[in-house]
Order: sequence, then C-alpha cells, then structure tokens
Amino acid sequence: MLKAIILVGGPMKGTRFRPLSLELPKPLFPVAGFPIIYHHIEACSQVPGLREILVIGFYQPNEALNRFISQSQQEFQIQIRYLQEYTALGTAGGIYHFRDQILTGSPEMFFVMNADVCGDFPLCDMVQFHKEKCPDASGIILGTEATRGQSQNFGCIVENKDTHEILHYVEKPETFVSTLINCGIYLFTPEIFSTLEVTFKKNLEDNYNYCDQNCHIPGFDFQTPSKEVIRLEQDIFIPLASTKQLFVFPTSRFWSQIKSAGAAVYANRHYLTIYQRTHPERLAKNGEGQPRIIGDVFIHPTASVHPTAVLGPNVTIGRNVTVGEGVRVRETIVLEGATLQAHCCILHSIVGWHSSVGVWTRVEGTPNDPNPNKPFAKLEIPCMFSSDGRLNPSITVIGSNVQVPSEVIILNSIVLPHKDLNGCYKNQIIL
Ligand code: GTP
Repeated sequence: MLKAIILVGGPMKGTRFRPLSLELPKPLFPVAGFPIIYHHIEACSQVPGLREILVIGFYQPNEALNRFISQSQQEFQIQIRYLQEYTALGTAGGIYHFRDQILTGSPEMFFVMNADVCGDFPLCDMVQFHKEKCPDASGIILGTEATRGQSQNFGCIVENKDTHEILHYVEKPETFVSTLINCGIYLFTPEIFSTLEVTFKKNLEDNYNYCDQNCHIPGFDFQTPSKEVIRLEQDIFIPLASTKQLFVFPTSRFWSQIKSAGAAVYANRHYLTIYQRTHPERLAKNGEGQPRIIGDVFIHPTASVHPTAVLGPNVTIGRNVTVGEGVRVRETIVLEGATLQAHCCILHSIVGWHSSVGVWTRVEGTPNDPNPNKPFAKLEIPCMFSSDGRLNPSITVIGSNVQVPSEVIILNSIVLPHKDLNGCYKNQIIL
C-alpha cells in the first residue's frame, strides 16, 4: 500500500503569485482548467496501490479547500484528507508531526509532492526504480536537468552516474554545483522517520540551549525559532547524501515550478500539450458554427464563446466565461466569470475572476519563456524589477473584478483586484 502527501504551504506562501493568490490558495489556482494540485492528485490516482492522499498545510480549513477535497475524493475514488499544521513547520516538520496518520495502515512507501510544481510526474517509474535499483534506500528525489545559470535557484544534486546514489546535495548554492536539480517530488520509505526523529530531537536540544542562553534578555520570545520546524532539503537531504540512503531518479519529462503568474501560463501550455496524449476529450475541436481553434485550447463546458472568436494556441477559458464576437485570445488563462467583449485581443495574459475587458481593447504581456517552440524548455525565472528599478516585461495579470474599458491597451502590467481602469497602461503595477 502506498500513500501520498501534498505540501501546500499556507497564506504567507505564494507571495510571488499575487494578486492571484489573494483570492484563493495558490494550490487551487486553475491551470489547464483544473486546480494546480488536481494534477498531482490525478497523477497519484494512476499509481496502483495508492490508497490515501494527505494534503498538509497551514491554511485554515476553508470552503474552497474543503469543496475541492471532497469533489476530488469522489472523482478519483481515493481517500483525501487535509491536515493542518498549527504554524508553518517547514517542508518536513508537518510530515514528522503527522507521522501517525501517515503510517496508519502500514504503507510500504509514500510520495511527498510540493504543490508549487507542475509536470508529467513519473510516479510509477519511481516506485519501479526503488524496487529494481535501490530497494534499501529510504528516499528518492525526482531530478531534472537545468541550465548552469538556472541551477543555483534550486536544490542541486551530485550523483554517482552509474548507481544514481546522491553523493552531495546543496540547496540553492552560491556557486555552481550541478545542473541536476531537485524537482520537489519524492518517494520515501517509513525508514525516513528515523532521520526525521534525530533531526527533531537535535532541533529541540538546540532550541533548549538557545532559550537557556537568551532567557535573561527582556522580552525574549521562547517560541523562536520554532522547535518543530524541519526543512526537508537542508536538514534531511544534506546529511543523508552519501549514506546509500538517498537516490535520484532523473527525468526528462516536462517539469517546472509555479512560483509566478508567468509560470502558470507556461504550465498551462504544457498541461494542455499533455492532454493530447492523456485526455484528448478535454481539448476543444474545430467544427461548424464553433469558434476557430488553433493548437491546444481548453473551454469549460459552461463558457459561452461566440463562433467568430479565434482561440489558441495554449488558451484556457474558465467556467461561465463569456467570449464575444471577433475576440482573439492566445497563450492566456481566462478565469471564472470573466467577460471578453467584442473584438478585444488578449495575448500572454491572465484575466482574473469576474473581470471584464472592453470592446476593441488589447491586453498583452511578454512571455518569460524564451523558446516556446522547444518542447519542455525550462522556464527562465526573471526578476520582477530591473537593476534600475523598472518593472521587467512580464505577462499581463488582470486581478479579479477589474473593469478594463473599451479601446485601450494594457501592456506588461499587473492590475490589482477591484480596479476600474480609465486609460492605457504600459509596464506598470496598478494599485
Ligand atoms: P522558495 O524559492 O523560497 O519558494 O523555496 P522553494 O522553491 O524551495 O519552496 P519552499 O521550500 O518554500 O516550498 C516547497 C513546497 O512546500 C511548496 O509547495 C510550499 O507550499 C510547501 N511548504 C513550504 N513550507 C511549508 C510548511 O511550513 N508547511 C507545509 N505544509 N508546506 C510548506
């Protein structure tokens, strides 16, 4: 029996995803028509013997999360539960804290998946790899190749190329270590809990010593640093490297992080491409009296799209969206309840929930992805601002409930929710 854990973080996380994460938890943001973690759950549901998914985070349970969990549970016929940390416990603190729930039913192994990644997750292959190549390992990290420049933003892995044993692990190194990076998808056996326990006890002791040394300081807070915080990457992987306990399973399939809105548009494109193989029925088709479809497009069945509209490639039209006459949309996510009025043109953008774009208006962004034609090329992660303090070109994000008037141009801008715009904007954050 196998289980899976999805680490969803909490309200202070997802800051680079604002303003979209102001409306709903980032893990529920829809990409290619479904919430980000729906894609994780779907991947888990295809692993034989995977019986339970535990979603661990420090969000207060809320209606959107509860509804999502019960719907997914029904759809995939798999047990899914949300476990709430009382505070941010780090990427391994929650796993240790909820160890009894994880170990109930004696799972042979369990996956741990960061919620803020997307990909064509080779979960069954990871199980097979453990069985065949490293049955004594307590952990396997899914790894992928990045460019030299990109690698330093990730956990970097040095492996034994023959056995795939991890010899050295450095999280976001300051100098170049390796182009093989950690994808934030892991497979563990229950033996990992002995390493977690050692780290937990050591942290407790350090915390005790720290408090003991500082308790004479007026106003000293005995709660800092939180004694239950464990970081999977720094506290567990670094000491486990080179002990024959930790291996890497390299993949060349699509994988990316989803940290920014630009990355969501990138993920949208790749999940739509995957639908060609896995769910062709989810992709819109050309037909008599239908809008013209170019490439991969997802249209929610409740959306109303005028037959003269032209959509694609790489477009997602959400629930109850209205797309008017002569509208052109490409490389864009249009969220629930939005209205695109006649002849507007939306390129490389996200249009927020219940926003409206006026007639003949142009909303346009600049993709971060330098090479959209190269299959699964890794996304560049640019800084939001240039060295002289200007906003770097990015996709355009229209927050929720924004009114964009007719006959204006909104270029490379981020519009916060509930704005009533009254002109053209270029390279601006509209507060
Ligand atoms: P950044 O570049 O700083 O975002 O670091 P990172 O890419 O290594 O991401 P981070 O370690 O912050 O998060 C990885 C995943 O774990 C994300 O899906 C987070 O939502 C989740 N996560 C991070 N911290 C916590 C935590 O304290 N508790 C839980 N349950 N999840 C967490």
